[in-house]
This record gives sequence, structure tokens and C-alpha cells, in this order.
Amino acid sequence: MKRVLTGLQPTGLLHIGNYFGAIEPMVRLQDGNELFMFVPNYHAITVPQRPDELRRNTLFATAVYLAAGIDPKRTTVFPQSLVSQHTELGWILNCIAKMGELERMTQYKDKATGKGENVSVGLFDYPVLMAADILLYDSLLVPVGSDQKQHVELARDLADRFNKQFGQTFVMPEPMIRKDGARIMGVDNPEKKMSKSASSPKNYISLMDNPATVEKKIKAAVTDSGTEVKGGAERPALANLLMIFSLVTGKTVAEIEAAHAGQSYGAFKQNLADAVNAWLAPLQAKILAFSKDEAMLLKVLEDGAKKAEEEAEVKMKVVRQKIGVAL
Ligand code: TYM
Repeated sequence: MKRVLTGLQPTGLLHIGNYFGAIEPMVRLQDGNELFMFVPNYHAITVPQRPDELRRNTLFATAVYLAAGIDPKRTTVFPQSLVSQHTELGWILNCIAKMGELERMTQYKDKATGKGENVSVGLFDYPVLMAADILLYDSLLVPVGSDQKQHVELARDLADRFNKQFGQTFVMPEPMIRKDGARIMGVDNPEKKMSKSASSPKNYISLMDNPATVEKKIKAAVTDSGTEVKGGAERPALANLLMIFSLVTGKTVAEIEAAHAGQSYGAFKQNLADAVNAWLAPLQAKILAFSKDEAMLLKVLEDGAKKAEEEAEVKMKVVRQKIGVAL
């Protein structure tokens, strides 16, 4: 029985990379582990948000978790903002985190590029809040896409530093990064990961895209030179499309390649679009059904927050004692 924790930012748009990188692994870990799946809404405000949208997106993320198969009876589902111990521990960890180590975070560098001084302190500091999210619950496993690996490593460094300075307090979390699916690339550019903040929606397949949109995006997907439906390191575009095909159907890449031997890219893309749509349809139906029941979603989040807060407070009592602010 391991403690497992993850969260996805409530941006209103969740794509298949988010799903396969973080949500599906959580669903699979639900049996035999103790799961915490939260909505990091305080992370979302590191960039400007419209308050009504942020609220709506928090409920949407919750609906997606449930639709994917997260069972609130077994998994503690909660919003970060209802468990104030996250921000409290975040502040304490801020005081042992170093400017230099945060400056090295590649995601910050990517997001801050070109914005000059006009970047929020929160965006810079965000990995420390993420470390607090993880360490509060003695999480041993953190299922994430590979872009978050560096942040989980920072959580390990901060845990180690705190433990050395104040005595054993936090356990060492491990990032859990699946072999295939932890880094789905943009369908418009196989050199860059699929991203919610991509400049064009052609980059990603949203969990809420309708069948015609999915078909259009896949038909416009970048391919490699040549005509063969074959992946491999030298063929990143096809490798990515084949990986998506494999993830939504459960077939191996070799099986999909064999089934398309001698076929054109056009025929392959049509089959891929059909496979993605067949996979999305039941998921979307569940997301929409859960989204309609706001009272149920709020109850799940409130009940989850109560359970999470009990756990978090046990840890914070120890932390406050150790650093000398308990009085
Ligand atoms: P976020 O919201 O950017 O992404 C949510 C999850 O989706 C994964 N992901 C991908 N996986 C595969 N292929 C992709 N193209 C792809 N793009 C994104 C991310 O790696 C992530 O697992 N900092 C986190 C949220 C967070 C968190 C935490 C996660 C806050 N506190 C504590 C774990 C534990 C984030 O911004 O993820």
C-alpha cells in the first residue's frame, strides 16, 4: 500500500497528453494503494485567470477525474485551496529553497522566455508549492509526464535538506513516469511536447474536441518524409502518431504498423482519427454527465478536502514543532 499523489492544473483544457501522462496511471494505481488526486487551483493563478473560469475549470477537472474512473470512495479528491496546509508548507519550504535551483527549472525558463520582468513571482516559485503538495502527504509515488520530473526532483532535494536541518520529517517521493505516453508530442510539431499553452489548437487533441475537429487535426498532423507507416527514432512524427494509436486502442505499435503495411499516410490518419474518436466518445459522455451535477462535484471536493486536511494537519503539527513556530 503506497501513498500516491498527483494533480492537473485546472485550465479548462485537458489534452490526451495529460490523460495518458497522469490520469490513466492514477486510475490503474487505485487498487491496492492510497491515492490523493487534487486540483492545484493555486498553481493555476501563477498566470492571470478569470475568477469565474477558474471555478468552472476546477469543477471540470474534477469531472474529468471521475469520468476517467477515479473513485472518490477510494481516492481522496480535493481542491488545493481548501487545504491551507499546502500554502503554509509552501512558505516554509520557500525559506530553504534556493534562488539558483529554481532558476534552473526548465519549465519556468520556457514559460518566462520573452516576458522580461513581467512574470509573476508565483510562476517562479511554483515548484516549491508543488513540493509542498507532495511532501505533505508522505507521497511515495508521483505519477507525472516527463516534463514534471525536474519538479519532483526538487521536492526530493527540499525533503532531504529539511530532514538534514530539522531531523527526519518527510519521505522521499519518486516520480512515476510511464515508458510510453509520458511525453506525447504536438501533432503539429513532433519536436515539442503537446501543450495546453501551445500557440495553435492544432498542437493538441483536447479531451473535449468533437469528432470533426479530431479528424481535422489528425489529417493536418505533420508526418515524416517517405510513405511508410513506420515509427522509430528517425521518424518522430510517425512514432508519435503510432504511440497515440497504441494508447487509445491498447494495440502495440508493431501490430499497428503491420496492419498498415503498404497503406498511405492518408488511410493511416483516417484510422487513427476513428480510433481516437471511438476512445473519446464514452469518456466525453461521462465528463458531460458529471459536469452537469455541480452539487455532487462540490460534495466530492468538500469531503475529500476534509480527509486531506486531517492528514495534512498531522504533518504540519510536526513541521511547526521542528522549526520552532508551534509555541
Ligand atoms: P500540468 O497541469 O501542466 O499537467 C498535468 C499532467 O500532465 C502531464 N503532461 C503530459 N504527459 C504526457 N505528454 C504530454 N505532452 C504532457 N503534457 C503534460 C504533466 O506532466 C502532468 O503530470 N505542476 C503540475 C501540477 C501539479 C502537480 C503537483 C503534479 C501541482 N502540484 C504535485 C504532481 C504532484 C502541472 O503543472 O501539470
